Amino acid sequence: MSSRYGNSERQLATARNLIPLGAQTFSKSVTQLPLGVAPFFAERARGSRLFDVDGNEYVDFINALAAVSLGNCDPDVDAAVVEQQKSGTIFSLSHRLESEVAERIVNMVPCAEMVRFGKNGSDATAGAIRVARAYTGRDHVLVCGYHGWQDWYIGSTTRNKGVPEVVRGLTHTFPYNDLAALEVKLAELDGKVAAVILEPMNVAFPAPGYLESVKALTHKAGAVLVFDETITGFRHSRGGAQELFGVTPDLATLGKGVANGYPLSVVCGRRELMAEMEEIFFSFTMGGETLSLAAAKATLDKIDREPVVATLKERGEAVLKGVDELIARHDVGDFLSFAGHPAWSFLVIKDKPGANAFEIKTLYLQEIFARGVLSLFTHNMSYAHSPEDVQRLLSVYDEVFPLLREGVSNGDIHERLNCAPLKPLFKIR
Ligand SMILES: Cc1ncc(COP(=O)(O)O)c(C=O)c1O
Repeated sequence: MSSRYGNSERQLATARNLIPLGAQTFSKSVTQLPLGVAPFFAERARGSRLFDVDGNEYVDFINALAAVSLGNCDPDVDAAVVEQQKSGTIFSLSHRLESEVAERIVNMVPCAEMVRFGKNGSDATAGAIRVARAYTGRDHVLVCGYHGWQDWYIGSTTRNKGVPEVVRGLTHTFPYNDLAALEVKLAELDGKVAAVILEPMNVAFPAPGYLESVKALTHKAGAVLVFDETITGFRHSRGGAQELFGVTPDLATLGKGVANGYPLSVVCGRRELMAEMEEIFFSFTMGGETLSLAAAKATLDKIDREPVVATLKERGEAVLKGVDELIARHDVGDFLSFAGHPAWSFLVIKDKPGANAFEIKTLYLQEIFARGVLSLFTHNMSYAHSPEDVQRLLSVYDEVFPLLREGVSNGDIHERLNCAPLKPLFKIR
């Protein structure tokens, strides 16, 4: 048992006895956090800081997997939730907040003419795919990126246990920024594709004209274009990546950025397509839960009123610039690179002879966690990150990158690890 994470490890032992995987989210589990050198349980969080159950403090660049875009305990969001709670949480009838939030989304997101709500991103993507299948009368779907835990998508990954083969056969992956590959898939499945769904960007920016051409090819094939903006929505721009890149899809799904960590997701899009929602079944007991809707209203109003998007970008650009300099200064560019949009950037770690990427990644996590920074190889910027938080990250990297360099050069990463290295499980981006 490690002394720094003793309480976390005790709570994890209890949880693993009661809760399969010991966590509700894959990225908070032992599959992603190396046991012995990582915290597992949070006690509280405020602004850009998270405090674990051992009293360790972190500058948080995970931000609940990018769900908390304004920062933890944002005062405007908290006040709106507390106020709404005084009159109830969920009712036997619908509530006006549904239209109030829908109206804001229509005003902000270019493709949004009509809106429905879910709780998780997976609800929204599954809903969008059902709409596309209903509208086109076709079954097959082309996917690029991560789209959640439901059968229709996860069956296309290596983590497909429990998904019927017949369902798996309906979903096909295509690589990002490769139009020829998309064209080939569409031709192979001529007349059968209901939807092309992709994250409009994750690690890489779209090549010039890429998203426009994806749209044209999708429409030529008679399919529906869906942008999965679960992460990019309200983050890369006020209206998401579709606004940033000037390409409007038929449907979009939104999730993490909409309610600053309260459970709310969104399917939105063209009126003609969204009308299918009258016929298909997309319905949740908790669908109109008002605390999350009140949180969304406060979050979206703050994004409109204050320079939230500009600040995420500005702080993220400082991270990008600083990390680029550190990669050069510590000569780690042969195994470490930096990619993505400033508001959601990625450290990409590659295999080296004598040091596989998972060993290097585990050493990175061990060393940044020990120094009070939380990241899972991404920098999910929040409005609460201060310039000092960015400096803290960079000074931690200034100490950690040379350790990675030495470990890779000497071929002794293994000996530097105080835990078993993470295992390659499944890759989604
Ligand atoms: C792009 C994207 N789509 C869909 C999802 C699924 O969202 P959820 O985990 O809320 O179901 C995620 C979650 O990480 C995501 O990043």
